[in-house]
Amino acid sequence: MSEPVVAGKTPLEANLEPGEYGWCSCGRSQSQPFCDGSHAGTDFVPLSFKVETAVPVWLCTCKHSANPPYCDGAHELLD
Ligand code: FES
Repeated sequence: MSEPVVAGKTPLEANLEPGEYGWCSCGRSQSQPFCDGSHAGTDFVPLSFKVETAVPVWLCTCKHSANPPYCDGAHELLD
């Protein structure tokens, strides 16, 4: 599999309403951290995740988190 694009080097705080979301895994989306369909033609697919209650979350934009869609601090290890 190819490497994702590093869309950002800091997480995005989001106050999401309960529902289902598609997190961009390829890094090409112009609607970070969410999928906009830009993964078409790549090996990547968006990661669907559910929010049960409205709580603030920190979503990964570097695409290197081991716990996507959430930031795990991996962005701090990138060049
Ligand atoms: S933004 Fe990707 S691990 Fe923090």
